[in-house]
Amino acid sequence: METIRANWYDYPHLYDIAFGWDPSGELDFLEEAFRRFAKRTVRVVFEPFCGTGRIAIGLAGRGYRVSGLDINEAAIRYARQRCEQFGVELDLAVGDVCDWVPSEPVDAVVTLIDSFRHLCTAEAAATAMRRFHAGIAAGGVLIVGLDVGKKPAHVEEEQHWTAQREGTVVETLVFDLRKPGQTPGTSIVRSVLHVSEPDGRKYKVLTDDEFRLYTLASFKQLAREHGPFELVAVHDLHYDFERPVTSPDPSDIVVVFTRS
Ligand SMILES: C[S@@+](CC[C@H](N)C(=O)[O-])C[C@H]1O[C@@H](n2cnc3c(N)ncnc32)[C@H](O)[C@@H]1O
Repeated sequence: METIRANWYDYPHLYDIAFGWDPSGELDFLEEAFRRFAKRTVRVVFEPFCGTGRIAIGLAGRGYRVSGLDINEAAIRYARQRCEQFGVELDLAVGDVCDWVPSEPVDAVVTLIDSFRHLCTAEAAATAMRRFHAGIAAGGVLIVGLDVGKKPAHVEEEQHWTAQREGTVVETLVFDLRKPGQTPGTSIVRSVLHVSEPDGRKYKVLTDDEFRLYTLASFKQLAREHGPFELVAVHDLHYDFERPVTSPDPSDIVVVFTRS
């Protein structure tokens, strides 16, 4: 089987199949977080690292005015096609979140699926936090999904699932190689898409990417120092407000901050 070593985000049609589950649980969670924690009505939302527009398109479909930004041109091109397909309007742009300056203040910044950890250096992470703080209106919220914590070596960390669309089957594996990246404070995460096309072609797309490492405490500190943002909720990926996370050192979480 051919192995293509590439940036998997350059294959947005495959990424969108792999992550193409029904986002309504995530969208319900975001809306509930807006209602519970924002001290203003949330109408304008920004999604940094928006990728193929999964969440941004869903929020626009629920009536929010949404903008999205991604550094990958192919992802934004694909997201634009999907907007046309779903008949929703989004303000999408190609760019680095560290350079984000909104045309108007937003009520919420939301980014799920561990995207913030793509910012490998402490400087980039701090810059993005400061940008978010400057862009969110007083009383707004910042909602971030990320994998935190240091699992013991014996804990199996691999995530593995299969999805398909119109005859293309994508089996996804994501695991931390537990090898430090070139940037201090990162490790290498390997993602492998095993693809089976309707014409019988089979290949793999393999990506090694640096991800910045956080604990819940260190991410909270980043948000406090470069906002300040105040942490108001920690949940796991059940996206269920009845299931708050109580461990001081959890792993896959979604955190809600308020901006005073
Ligand atoms: C996990 S994917 C997107 C997930 C998307 N938020 C979702 O919920 O489906 C992460 C995205 O971050 C983008 N990205 C990485 N570094 C970035 C940066 N510095 N600025 C903007 N986008 C970035 C990648 O191109 C990729 O599309």
